[in-house]
Amino acid sequence: MNQQTAFITGATSGFGQAIAHRLASDGFNLIICGRRSDRLEKYSDDIMKQYPVKIYSLTFDVKKKSEVTNSIASLPAEFTKIDVLVNNAGGAHGFDLIQDANTDDWDEMLDTNVKGLLYVTKAVLPLMNESKNPYIFNIGSTAAKYVYEKGNIYCATKFAVDALTQAMRIDLLKKKIRVTAIHPGMAETEFSIVRFKGDAEKAKTVYKGLQPLTANDIADVLSYCLHTPVHVNINELVITPSAQANPFYINRM
Ligand SMILES: NC(=O)c1ccc[n+]([C@@H]2O[C@H](COP(=O)([O-])OP(=O)(O)OC[C@H]3O[C@@H](n4cnc5c(N)ncnc54)[C@H](OP(=O)(O)O)[C@@H]3O)[C@@H](O)[C@H]2O)c1
Repeated sequence: MNQQTAFITGATSGFGQAIAHRLASDGFNLIICGRRSDRLEKYSDDIMKQYPVKIYSLTFDVKKKSEVTNSIASLPAEFTKIDVLVNNAGGAHGFDLIQDANTDDWDEMLDTNVKGLLYVTKAVLPLMNESKNPYIFNIGSTAAKYVYEKGNIYCATKFAVDALTQAMRIDLLKKKIRVTAIHPGMAETEFSIVRFKGDAEKAKTVYKGLQPLTANDIADVLSYCLHTPVHVNINELVITPSAQANPFYINRM
């Protein structure tokens, strides 16, 4: 049987790394992407030791349109038929009131979470034409559903991911590409360390007194969606830890 191939952005950490492991265990060949090439090489070796799959690493910054386009155009022939695209790269930068925020943080979030997702999708779509089971996942957030204090631009970017997921489902309908948004709540990855600019202690306080989601929880859910029959499209999933009803109601012990 021909193995299917999944293209995963943000595979150097958190959800993306867990999704790469999970899809390799499901038998997918992988194209794993991120800016930290050392991590990509290490994870690629680790995964290939565990599973009989092929992996190709692509190092690029999703914010840079020509880097995205050139990297994807450079894929070797055996990786040019893509079945699954996981648009996961992204994050929050800063946690400030709109009047106090650093506008460089705004650029970073808008360029990564919105434009980066679009550049990657545009470059990967032509490679999905031959797939019998084409599927796109966009990783949104509960921040795509609720705006919270100091969430401002991050929430705006994730609302945009939600809108773009709906737009893709409409525009790609005739191409029979399934499109799902996964909207996680609090999950312990490097997300909060990045948001608080490397302050690991502050990042830890976000998850104090509760059991957050893990990256593997999200990978499991994505794999579940992917393995539903092709006539089923799960439009979106909002997933929080049991201790979190939404961004405003959290049961800390
Ligand atoms: N953890 C949460 O609580 C949570 C909740 C809801 C949604 N999310 C969303 O889930 C996604 C994954 O986040 P995570 O929690 O797994 O965080 P993470 O551990 O910080 O991982 C983020 C990944 O995105 C990549 N990335 C960031 N900026 C990039 C850029 N400009 N170009 C290429 N790759 C870039 C990073 O790779 P490099 O640094 O190597 O480039 C890394 O692999 C994000 O879209 C985030 O907004 C997270």
